[in-house]
Amino acid sequence: MVRISLKLVVKMIFTLGIMAGSVYIFLRRRPNLRRPDLRRPKPPQQEPRDECERDDSSISNSTSNAEGNPHNYTLILNNPGKCGVTDDDVFLLVMVTSTPGNRKQRLAIRNTWGNETNVKGTIIRTVFAVGLTQDAKMQGDLEQENGVYKDIIQEDFVESYRNLTLKTVMCLKWASEFCPNAKFILKTDDDTFVNIFNLVHHLEGLNATQARRFVTGHVYTLAKPVRHAKNKQREVQWCLTKRDYPRDSFPPYPGGNAYVISNDVTRLIYEVSLTVRYLFIEDVYLGLCLEKLGIDPVHEGGFVSWKDVQSCKDKKIASHWLKTPGAMVKAWKDLIHSC
Ligand SMILES: *[C@@H]1O[C@H](CO)[C@@H](O)[C@H](O)[C@H]1NC(C)=O
Ligand SMILES: *[C@@H]1O[C@H](CO)[C@@H](O)[C@H](O)[C@H]1NC(C)=O
Ligand SMILES: *[C@@H]1O[C@H](CO)[C@@H](O)[C@H](O)[C@H]1NC(C)=O
Ligand SMILES: *[C@@H]1O[C@H](CO)[C@@H](O)[C@H](O)[C@H]1NC(C)=O
Ligand SMILES: *[C@@H]1O[C@H](CO)[C@@H](O)[C@H](O)[C@H]1NC(C)=O
Repeated sequence: MVRISLKLVVKMIFTLGIMAGSVYIFLRRRPNLRRPDLRRPKPPQQEPRDECERDDSSISNSTSNAEGNPHNYTLILNNPGKCGVTDDDVFLLVMVTSTPGNRKQRLAIRNTWGNETNVKGTIIRTVFAVGLTQDAKMQGDLEQENGVYKDIIQEDFVESYRNLTLKTVMCLKWASEFCPNAKFILKTDDDTFVNIFNLVHHLEGLNATQARRFVTGHVYTLAKPVRHAKNKQREVQWCLTKRDYPRDSFPPYPGGNAYVISNDVTRLIYEVSLTVRYLFIEDVYLGLCLEKLGIDPVHEGGFVSWKDVQSCKDKKIASHWLKTPGAMVKAWKDLIHSC
């Protein structure tokens, strides 16, 4: 009984196997019966779009200048007394690059980590740096906001991504002109969260030698320019042709979302920038200026790119991942509870 059914099963499997094989061979010889769309020839592979080459001449020539980078812009909004009203020297000048429309981000920063009274016994000054808007209402709102808080500086270059380096140079120029008494400056963005307590503590721990000709942040070394943007938004933004930037790698530079400069070199960096050809990637541009001055930026692990800095228990200093003003307020609450 058992033997017979085993034989039967073997026979059936064999028969079924042959049948399946025949059907398979039959279908293969008539490809249109078998998943027709997979057999269709693929459309020819599209050449990756090279935005870099395409848009180069029209965009990057607007401000590039082989002779250097003259900075002949005029301050429309200024608060010249910002650093000069106290007898004591300013320890830290916080310069937040912003855009005219980002009022909510500025309010969040004023109410949280950027408030000048956060660190008892340490004089901190905070300003927001913006470019020019063509929108008259937005400009009116900005002037009104500055009337209340007296902390906005604005130069008359057009606000745009490709002009970010102009904003950095504006900050260097302003700090050397209107805040020479500050010991350090922090250049940061309005979507960056700073653990101001850890930052001040870190800077106070430097000795006199370390605090001279000092630039720190998350330092990138041996980074290479993106030459071909393959349709990725970020690559398109950062893409550089050989004409924009002929060298194969960048000098060391501190990541742009937050870096600190000892104020003894701010004027030097500003002055050397006038002789360094414009590059719209502002942190790399700073690296080029530092290289020309022979200043090596010092890497500091507390400047993180994509991690939270919401606790005083770790040594984190700044982070670049708080996309909304609400997130900034929440991070601040978490931070002060842990301090
Ligand atoms: C941009 O500058 C390059 C070299 O400086 C020049 O060859 C090119 O013609 C310029 N393009 C435009 C659109 O002005
Ligand atoms: C910018 O200012 C410098 C010095 O003040 C001057 O020599 C130069 O001609 C100006 N350049 C432009 C384009 O206005
Ligand atoms: C900074 O904080 C103080 C004390 O909490 C507060 O009175 C002040 O309004 C804040 N400043 C700004 C610009 O929000
Ligand atoms: C940068 O600002 C200058 C001066 O206002 C302006 O002429 C230029 O068009 C701006 N560049 C871009 C890409 O917006
Ligand atoms: C400052 O600190 C550095 C690094 O810790 C040390 O090498 C140097 O000797 C110190 N200089 C002074 C003047 O204390």
